Amino acid sequence: MDKLLIEGGRRLAGEIAISGAKNAALPILCACLLTREPLVLDNVPALHDIGTMLKLLAQMGVKVEREGERVTLCAADLGEPVAPYELVKTMRASVLVLGPLVARCGEAKVSLPGGCAIGARPVDQHIKGLQAMGAEVNVDHGYVLAKSPRLKGARLFTDMVTVTGTENLMMAACLADGETVIENAAREPEVVDLAQCLISMGAQISGAGTDVIRIRGVASLHGAQHRIMPDRIETGTYLCAAAVTGGDVRLTGTSAGYLDSVVDKLMDAGCDITSEKSPSFEAIHIKAPSRLKAVSIRTAPYPAFPTDMQAQFMAINAVAEGTAIIRETIFENRFMHAVELQRLGADIRIDGNTAVVQGVARLQGATVMATDLRASASLIIAGLVAEGETIVDRIYHLDRGYEKIEQKFAALGANVRRAK
Ligand code: UD1
Repeated sequence: MDKLLIEGGRRLAGEIAISGAKNAALPILCACLLTREPLVLDNVPALHDIGTMLKLLAQMGVKVEREGERVTLCAADLGEPVAPYELVKTMRASVLVLGPLVARCGEAKVSLPGGCAIGARPVDQHIKGLQAMGAEVNVDHGYVLAKSPRLKGARLFTDMVTVTGTENLMMAACLADGETVIENAAREPEVVDLAQCLISMGAQISGAGTDVIRIRGVASLHGAQHRIMPDRIETGTYLCAAAVTGGDVRLTGTSAGYLDSVVDKLMDAGCDITSEKSPSFEAIHIKAPSRLKAVSIRTAPYPAFPTDMQAQFMAINAVAEGTAIIRETIFENRFMHAVELQRLGADIRIDGNTAVVQGVARLQGATVMATDLRASASLIIAGLVAEGETIVDRIYHLDRGYEKIEQKFAALGANVRRAK
């Protein structure tokens, strides 16, 4: 199993380009199921999760062509609308085929995602929404079976803010009969990116980016071309890596506008962050002090602080001056990185969904284990400032969400190597 070897103590400096967003690309790839015509997507990152989604779509009869960062998908003739357990279990986002398949084919059979390292993560809200749109939904032998000759527009209310739930129901509603209103909708920028792609395919959607999204169903959608938005979590992760090393880093092809809450916290920690923007170019520049000040965070749906940045902020707080309180309100079991950070010498106490991080003067390199995608990122960030060598084991998690990670860190002057 691959490992990452990190020699700590180097200040990051230089410039790298941020990739397209995994969490925008995954639902947008599924949008191809809504039309017989080709969907051309640019800025698609080369990540393991993207490969899994393309495999799932290809298995259903979608023609997939991939050339660098461009992916062309054509779902002219679909086979069985089935997403098998073998693929869904490796990636929860596979459930995003459910809405488009029922809308286009009138039926779908999609495996339940099952448990995952960061919590139970059920899909009851996706199911409840489809039922409200008239679908007959049963769960049988671990599969969601949904049927509806034509979905009907409805007023939908999700019990909690769910990102993929909102995306699934928004896609389903595009081909429904009449108007659908999704209340308590997720406002994440990735939901907006999906809506923009669907609109360019002919969908009638308003309100994406607010908590009420209205979709007027149409008889069919057509082909389109769309560029995937930059990855705000990758952006935030490199900002944290620069911050913790007292670095001076420029990130291109990304925008601070997608991560105000993260940028604010890094500024509170003492960093100087500036944005550059012209019609054809965007970048963020961070200059960090030699030691950060501790910053407390509380995760919540967008535009509040993202749960996908919580682990990285635990790592920077581990070596900051002062004490930080970290509250995780989205997932019930998302502190597994704390134990690994403690192996590097971090002083962290966990009580339920709250972590108290007392900054220490230095961390020491050690062998640690990655438990999920963002936990892995936090261990790298800690390794960059730890004395000596840190070995991060089980980095297959990282390859699910960070494109060319060693190359990007190398370009910033870090000593990060991959080993078998
Ligand atoms: C998405 C992101 C993930 C991010 C998360 C929260 C993608 C592919 N993944 O995941 O990186 O960490 O948003 O920002 O975009 N819930 C239910 N029932 C449901 C749906 C959700 O109880 O039917 C709960 C979940 O268990 C969780 C909360 O709602 O506690 C939010 O989950 P959700 O927003 O759905 O996360 P994902 O869309 O899976």
